Amino acid sequence: MPSTGPTVERDAAGEWHVRGFEAARTVLRSADTKQAGFNAELIARIPNMMNQPILYQDGKVHQQQRKQTARFFTPKAVSDNYRAVMERLADQLVKKLLRQKQVDLSQLSITLAVRVAAQVVGLTNSYPGLPQRLEAFFSGNLTNLRLSPRTILNLLTNQVRTLAFFTFDVLPAIRARRRKPQSDVISHLLAQNYSNAEILTECITYAAAGMVTTREFISVAAWHLLERPELRARYLVASEEERYTMLHEILRLEPVVTRLYRRTTAAIELDNAGVPVVIPAGDKVILEIDASNADESIVGDLPLAVCPGREIKGDRVPEMVMSFGDGVHRCPGAYIAIQETDIFLRRLLALDSLHIVSKPSIRWNTLTTGYELRNFEIAVR
Ligand code: HEM
Repeated sequence: MPSTGPTVERDAAGEWHVRGFEAARTVLRSADTKQAGFNAELIARIPNMMNQPILYQDGKVHQQQRKQTARFFTPKAVSDNYRAVMERLADQLVKKLLRQKQVDLSQLSITLAVRVAAQVVGLTNSYPGLPQRLEAFFSGNLTNLRLSPRTILNLLTNQVRTLAFFTFDVLPAIRARRRKPQSDVISHLLAQNYSNAEILTECITYAAAGMVTTREFISVAAWHLLERPELRARYLVASEEERYTMLHEILRLEPVVTRLYRRTTAAIELDNAGVPVVIPAGDKVILEIDASNADESIVGDLPLAVCPGREIKGDRVPEMVMSFGDGVHRCPGAYIAIQETDIFLRRLLALDSLHIVSKPSIRWNTLTTGYELRNFEIAVR
């Protein structure tokens, strides 16, 4: 359930919570903010980082980087370059289910999400086990920074996992691309003279932003469609456009990233239900995406129900509302995520006897600030 409360509110700690869609969009589109989520303020303090990962860049440098990498993410590029890979992987995963009769969907979804994003990034020279290495990496608690024996142990374990990811995945990819550049993010970063450490950090950023998120969305979308036979039946006969609308509506209701964070660099004025509010420079702003996505002035009645094709009001508001963010940091991987989910779910849901054996366990992921679905057993007869 999204949190409720005023459109804009300052809490006891002095942090601002923005829940209304228009106010959230104003913040995300403002030039007077800096990224403050995904540990950005810690990353900014790492010494010898000439080039920050894209998610943490601001201003001209960020604009330039988005412009230069946009060619990997356009709908045409996604369809031309990655559709065949997505189809091949989806076929393999469905075959695995048919062979084993019962599988954990969260294991299929991580394999798909990791392999697809790996193509875009250029992590294609790995030793076996990339999905497992990333899963172990992101299962470590990266956000608790209070010094305690447990935190120290976590940090050491994470260092070992980071080293494994670098040695078995990132370094082989860098070496291959130094010999022969390709059309992917790592080749682009090498052309920009990024160091190995900077490329590693960018790969971790893409893994968190692209792989972890898409994995969860695939599972949650399958769950909705399996629990609503009429939606599943409609999905299987619908056109691609209508299927995407259905997926967008599920993503609106189930944003994988429920909180975005910014720090203001100048005062920003917001409309708090007709009353102007000024957020001063230097304050932290927490954008509550789940609440903005359920803003009735934008999505109409029954904001917490799945109603594909619902009328969305407002100026060019996308069907998934804020689930891919807004403004300069808006997710470049949106088409990739939706296309790969659709390619996989069409094949999966078409299996007549497919059913849920046990619903997934739901945990909170502190890095993405969203749900984590695990042990989602599905089967065919
Ligand atoms: C359902 C899946 C996905 C969801 C829900 C999602 C969500 C988001 C959101 C909300 C942001 C904005 C962060 C902010 O403003 O602070 C973002 C940024 C980003 N996403 Fe995604 N994402 C998904 C899939 C992907 C994929 C497949 C890729 C790449 C292969 C990707 C790459 C990125 C990158 C690189 C950024 C940073 C962009 C920037 O800072 O300019 N995402 N994503």
